[in-house]
Amino acid sequence: MLTPAVATQLQEAGWSVVLWRTPNLVIGVRPELPANCKILAPESLAESAIASTLTQVDALGGFLHLHPNDSKSPMLSLDSGANALVRHVFLLAKHLQHKLTVPTDSGRRHFVCVVRQDGQLGTTGTATGINAVAGGLSGLTKTLQIEWPSTFCRTVDFASELSAEEAAQRLAAELADPDGQTQEIGWSPQGRVAFLPEVSDTVHSSEADDFPEKPVWLVSGGARGVTAACVLELARRHPGTFLLAGRSPLEDEPDWADGITAEAGLRQAAMQALQAAGEKPTPVKVRQLVERIDANRAIRTTLQQLQDSGSIGVYASADATNADELRDAIAPHVQQHGAITGVVHGAGVLADKLIEKKTPEDFDAVVGTKAHGLQALLDAADPEQLSHLLLFSSAAGFYGNGGQSDYAIGNEILNGTALTFAQAHPNCRVVSYNWGPWEGGMVTPELKRMFEERGVEVIPAAEGARIFADFAMAEGRGHGPLLLIGNSLAVQYEPPPEVKWTRRTTRTLSLAQNPTLIDHTIGGHAVVPAVCALAWMAEAAEQLAPGYRFAACEDFQVLKGIVFDDTLADGYQLDLEEVERESGLHTVIEAKITSSGGKLPRPHYRTRVHLSKATPDSPVSHLKAEHRTPITDNPYQNGTLFHGPKFQGIQQIAELTEQHLLAQCRMPVWSDAECGQFQTRPFNPYTLDPAFQAMLVWARMIHNTGSLPLKLARMEHFRTIPFDTPCTLDLRVQSHSSTALVADLDLVLNDGQIAARMLGAEVTLSENLNTLFLKSAA
Ligand SMILES: NC(=O)c1ccc[n+]([C@@H]2O[C@H](COP(=O)([O-])OP(=O)(O)OC[C@H]3O[C@@H](n4cnc5c(N)ncnc54)[C@H](OP(=O)(O)O)[C@@H]3O)[C@@H](O)[C@H]2O)c1
Repeated sequence: MLTPAVATQLQEAGWSVVLWRTPNLVIGVRPELPANCKILAPESLAESAIASTLTQVDALGGFLHLHPNDSKSPMLSLDSGANALVRHVFLLAKHLQHKLTVPTDSGRRHFVCVVRQDGQLGTTGTATGINAVAGGLSGLTKTLQIEWPSTFCRTVDFASELSAEEAAQRLAAELADPDGQTQEIGWSPQGRVAFLPEVSDTVHSSEADDFPEKPVWLVSGGARGVTAACVLELARRHPGTFLLAGRSPLEDEPDWADGITAEAGLRQAAMQALQAAGEKPTPVKVRQLVERIDANRAIRTTLQQLQDSGSIGVYASADATNADELRDAIAPHVQQHGAITGVVHGAGVLADKLIEKKTPEDFDAVVGTKAHGLQALLDAADPEQLSHLLLFSSAAGFYGNGGQSDYAIGNEILNGTALTFAQAHPNCRVVSYNWGPWEGGMVTPELKRMFEERGVEVIPAAEGARIFADFAMAEGRGHGPLLLIGNSLAVQYEPPPEVKWTRRTTRTLSLAQNPTLIDHTIGGHAVVPAVCALAWMAEAAEQLAPGYRFAACEDFQVLKGIVFDDTLADGYQLDLEEVERESGLHTVIEAKITSSGGKLPRPHYRTRVHLSKATPDSPVSHLKAEHRTPITDNPYQNGTLFHGPKFQGIQQIAELTEQHLLAQCRMPVWSDAECGQFQTRPFNPYTLDPAFQAMLVWARMIHNTGSLPLKLARMEHFRTIPFDTPCTLDLRVQSHSSTALVADLDLVLNDGQIAARMLGAEVTLSENLNTLFLKSAA
């Protein structure tokens, strides 16, 4: 069971664990918890029970929701079984907002949801246990990350094949991940995945052969707004029958409104009509009356335009979230025009506000319209007979969007349903359109202006309708069911120049998570390679400054290496502080890694990371091809280097003099799992490691002593050296003594370009190391 395994991991990492025990929703055995876990048990899932129970906790370091694996709950029901927890977690987030966003000195806080689907974020659509409602939680975490920028928010999906212990270990690593940009991660036996959009080719816009000759479409929300524009484009290309469902009743236009089109005139006439009926014309009543006239006019216009294009348009007044009401309203039309062949779910409502202001009713209206609306449409049709299922989702679901936590959940539920429905119904064309904002519909002129100011693309109505019809009608099934049209709605994080920031993250290291470091053993214990520590700091800095890329680091110092022995600390703190910012193109971040345990924090590594928005050109090496006499002795065999097979990147020492060393290098391939907690971003530390190894070789050959990395005055990085890629290492000695060697090094790719340049690299020489290296080699 995941809960005890996670509780144990958290306790081992030094956290106090409080279990939030909800009333029994899914029948099962209550897990046995480790000792010292406090339990909080709200009486019910209601908001009042959450608020009163939360008064029993003070400060919180984070909140983890472990969603039960519940394949029995109906796919789109928000109320049954474990699905009801999604609304509960939404309300918990509301009441945790203050606790999880107040500034803290003890590292960032967390809001993390764990689901157990396919370990690939539901994208396979096949595994048993995939539940689209549970998948909706990712919409919540993505939105919270925007609303709570200093909190670490993420949804992690573990495949059911992963054991509870493995999932708990992976989760501990995720909690320590410095990447604040990725809010969705999947883990399966195949490894770790994130969800990234791919640019799609435009589809072949000619009609697919299997397009029904006389389609009968059931469309929620299709009489008005952007869905109507899409329906009309579909009808223009291929006439059919369109059953349009909306809540507004279709009424004859009252005489007082007849012929008045200007908004101000209509408001004036509505006021007079209310007065004539003996009612007080309050602004709310006037607005509602005018909206009814507008809605009715829009419905009549859509029906007329359908008829003009040779289609049959029918309006059914029904709430699409009420399955019985919808079925009854369309039944006579189905009888007259034939069975439904295509479903379009366009109904949607908004209740935009920050999470702390949301109400349970907002959730029910916004998420219910998406999830229960889709269920009611599928109930009204025969899903097995559908040629098309077309869903109006939103980029707000794909990216999250401030003020739209409920809307993001609802749209993610549509996306999850599209993936599973497409798998289960291979003959049905399923598209979930994740629209950016359109010009029109929900997007008022004020909203449009705001989007444009933020650089968010707004979709012109004709263009959106064209894309809708192209993807609905296209031949072939070349693309997946999720389509993203538009960019992120969130304001890009860009601290203003005068505001410099600081950030702290904590990472727990273990050999179990970095098994390949066994090949980096000195004196019987695995040691974190200095280049890995450097990459760790560079990656964290890069991720906290979106848009900037790692360019260089300065003044890197190894103060106390991290050894996997009894000195290994429970957690390592990485502190980052922006110290310089230059015209928005360049930023400098001080980074240091420390651990606690003694009276004072113990420093391990430090450096200054330079990030840039510009991509530098790689300089060209001036190395000449000359005949050299290589050294045949293998430094990995003779005690010169302690490195095991995975680190053996030096293939041949081509030249070695008192001033110079030249080596041919090629690093063996490492899988992501082998890279463990030290991945290959923003540069590959493993393919740079032979640079320090070459210094060790030189020190042994010239001074007959072992040595270890100490400092690096500057490293400039131009191109990543992939695994299994030949490169030449050019080491130029700057100074040396019996205790230190200082050198400049270039790593040169076969095209002559320098991938990385190290200046003032320093290793410390000591005879004591000779025996340690020998023990490792033994
Ligand atoms: N406009 C955009 O920029 C944009 C961007 C991304 C995604 N979308 C999605 O596209 C869809 C259409 O958006 P829109 O801008 O056209 O919105 P809209 O102008 O507000 O229209 C929404 C439509 O949904 C209907 N509706 C709402 N609740 C319903 C219910 N319970 N049962 C039946 N019909 C219901 C409304 O009709 P009644 O009021 O008569 O019920 C109306 O026709 C929505 O699902 C939205 O989430 C829109």
